[in-house]
Amino acid sequence: MAELRVGIVGMGIGRDNALAIARNPRGRVTALCDLNEARLPGVAAELPSQPKLFADYKKMCADPEVDAVFVGTPNQLHVPVALEAVRQGKHVMVTKPLSDALAPARRLVAAQEEAGVVGMMSLSTRFDNGAQYLGRRRAEGFFGSIYWAKAISVRRSGIPDWNLGFIEAGGGAMRDMGVHVLDCAWWIMGCPPPVSVSGVAAANFGPRGQGYWDFRQPPERFWSKYDSDDFGGGFVRFADGQGLQLESHWASHMPTTFNLELFGTEAGATMSPLRLYRTVDGAPQDLSVNLPPGPNAWDNIAAHFIACCLDGIPCEAPLRHGMVVQEMLEALLKSAQTGREVRVKGE
Ligand SMILES: NC(=O)c1ccc[n+]([C@@H]2O[C@H](COP(=O)([O-])OP(=O)(O)OC[C@H]3O[C@@H](n4cnc5c(N)ncnc54)[C@H](O)[C@@H]3O)[C@@H](O)[C@H]2O)c1
Repeated sequence: MAELRVGIVGMGIGRDNALAIARNPRGRVTALCDLNEARLPGVAAELPSQPKLFADYKKMCADPEVDAVFVGTPNQLHVPVALEAVRQGKHVMVTKPLSDALAPARRLVAAQEEAGVVGMMSLSTRFDNGAQYLGRRRAEGFFGSIYWAKAISVRRSGIPDWNLGFIEAGGGAMRDMGVHVLDCAWWIMGCPPPVSVSGVAAANFGPRGQGYWDFRQPPERFWSKYDSDDFGGGFVRFADGQGLQLESHWASHMPTTFNLELFGTEAGATMSPLRLYRTVDGAPQDLSVNLPPGPNAWDNIAAHFIACCLDGIPCEAPLRHGMVVQEMLEALLKSAQTGREVRVKGE
C-alpha cells in the first residue's frame, strides 16, 4: 500500500499532527525538525518508527524521504517554511493562521497552485466532528440559507506565554483564535465571498502583564515585547447579503466561551453545545445532537491530507481558504486602525 512520508516542522502543535499522521495506516512520519533540538527526541519516541531529526527546515524539505511537510512554527514563519517545501515539490499542510499578513499568504497560494502540489490548512475546529456535522447539514439544505452567524472565542486568561511569536507583530488574539471560529463559521455557511469588514481591536491586558495563560505571570522581559491585539471584534459583509459577527478575546472579565451561532431561513444551530433549532407544525423544535464517538479532529485532518496527496481527491480545506480567511482577519485589524470599513477581494 502506498504511504505518505511526512516531515514535521515545529514540535508544539506539530506533535498532535505527527501522532495523527502516524496513527493513519497510510501515513509515516519520516522527519522531525525544530530549531530547539531538545524538543525532538520526546516526539520521536512517541512515533512507531524512528524519524530523521533536523534543526534546519531547508535540509528537511530537501530530504528525498519526505513527500509532504507539515508547518507548525510560529505564525511569522509559516509562509517561509511552506514556500521552501513547495519549491522542493513537496505537498504541504500549514497550521492556522495561514500567515502573519495577507501579502505572504497570497505569495504562498500562488506558488503552491503553480507547483501543482497539495496545499491544505490544518484546522482543528473545522475538522472537529461537531463542525463537520453542521457542515453536512448545511450542504443537505437543512438550514435553508444561513444569513447571519456569530463566531465567538472568549478566554478569561489565555494569552499564550510559551513563544514570543504569539504576542509580537503578526500574532494576536484575532489571528490565533478568531481564525478558528471565523474559518469554521465561514466554511459552514458555504464559503461565501466576503466584500467588506469593519472592526475594532485593542491590547487591554497583555501589555500590562495581565491575562496570560491560566493566570500565570510571565516575566516582564516577555510581555514588554507585546505588539499585537489581545481582543478584536467586528463584522464581515458577504456578497449575497449575509453577515457574520466575530469576536476573539485572549483575556477578559467574562466566562470562557467558544461557540458558533448560525441563523438560517429554515433552521438554526449552536456548536457548543451542538444543538439544532427549527419550527415544526408551528411549534419550536430544539434538538440536542449526541454524535457517536469518532475520530478526533487531528485524525480527520491527517486522513484528509493523506487522501488528497495519495488519491488526488479534491482538498476541502485548501490553502486558498486560509488566504481568504487571512484577508478577513487582516481587514478587521486594518479597520480597527483606520476607523473605517475595509473592502476585500475575497479571492
Ligand atoms: N488547534 C490548532 O490548530 C493549533 C493549536 C496550537 C497552536 N497552533 C498554531 O501552531 C503554531 C505554533 O504554536 P505552538 O503552540 O505549537 O508553539 P510552540 O512554541 O509550542 O511550537 C513552535 C515550535 O516551532 C519551533 N520553531 C520556530 N522557528 C523554527 C524554525 N525556523 N525552524 C524549525 N522550528 C522552528 C520552535 O522552536 C517551537 O518548538 C502557531 O501558528 C499556532 O497558531 C495551532
